[in-house]
Amino acid sequence: MRILSGMRATGKLHLGHVLVLEDWKKLQDEGNETFFFVADWHALTTHKEESYIIYKSTLDIVRGYLAAGIDPNKSTIFVQSAIKEHAELYLLFNMLISVSRLERIPTYKELKENLSNRDLSTAGFLTYPVLQTADILIYKANAVPVGEDQLYHIELSREIARKFNNLYKEVFPEPDPIVTRIPKLPGTDGRKMSKSYGNIIMIDENSDSLKKKIMPMMTDPARMRRTDPGNPEKCPVWDYHKAFTFDQNELNWVVNGCKSAEIGCVQCKKLLLKNMENRLKPIWENYSKISDEDVLNVIHEGNKKASEVAKKTLEEVREAMNLRW
Ligand code: TRP
Ligand code: SF4
Repeated sequence: MRILSGMRATGKLHLGHVLVLEDWKKLQDEGNETFFFVADWHALTTHKEESYIIYKSTLDIVRGYLAAGIDPNKSTIFVQSAIKEHAELYLLFNMLISVSRLERIPTYKELKENLSNRDLSTAGFLTYPVLQTADILIYKANAVPVGEDQLYHIELSREIARKFNNLYKEVFPEPDPIVTRIPKLPGTDGRKMSKSYGNIIMIDENSDSLKKKIMPMMTDPARMRRTDPGNPEKCPVWDYHKAFTFDQNELNWVVNGCKSAEIGCVQCKKLLLKNMENRLKPIWENYSKISDEDVLNVIHEGNKKASEVAKKTLEEVREAMNLRW
């Protein structure tokens, strides 16, 4: 299977991304043909005033990919804006879709309301999912690992692929979403992870900084005293255990101990800390060793590979659409 996914370049990666990258690595290591990229043009739709941050984030994100085990010998790692054919295909796809169809995409309406501090009245923001469609179809990806919020965009990709194939020629497979089974991690205070709340655990913590974020974590408010029983379902520490504790006995120990007040929250967090460190330490070590130069080399090699595929698809597309100049 050919699999493709990407992340928007709007900042450094955090713990939520680390879990996504573990999924990507599995898909890579199962022998799929994997393409992973950084969507820097997509970042411009919401962060046009911060183009330098987008550049820096792009480097940091690829560093994160590499640190988490995305292997340039197995996967094609590239940057969207380096492959100009995405823009050409995006232009052509814009002919195939109505403005009202794009306006009805729930993520469009939602983000416009939620990010009211940003200017999202641009044509670029409205057509964001068309660009995403071009990202996917240009590599003829069969499957796209994404979070639930992206399902509407994959549906649009399928629709545009069908439309193109019917109107011109059978060029594109309809991509299937692979919805991640990772539960969404809350911030350390139980609210949504957000830079402005200061409740995020980043990809490049260390033992000390992780401890400083985990130990004061918010817990079930019902456990005022050590002897009060709690309910893990009301506790963000439990969300983290579900993502980082694999041993069923340990999970049972947490649930039973919490409900019966046999364990305290400090003990519970210490176990979590141990399991998180085990999983994250190799990533921290890799992350600190990878230089900007390493990252740039990987991107340049990956861009070449991606470009070959994209160029071939565009030749087929131009041919099918009688753009023979
Ligand atoms: N829209 C995706 C997000 O916000 C990022 C993205 C852009 C993407 N192009 C893509 C994801 C293509 C998968 C495939 O997370
Ligand atoms: Fe949360 Fe663990 Fe405390 Fe229960 S014991 S409230 S799961 S931190």
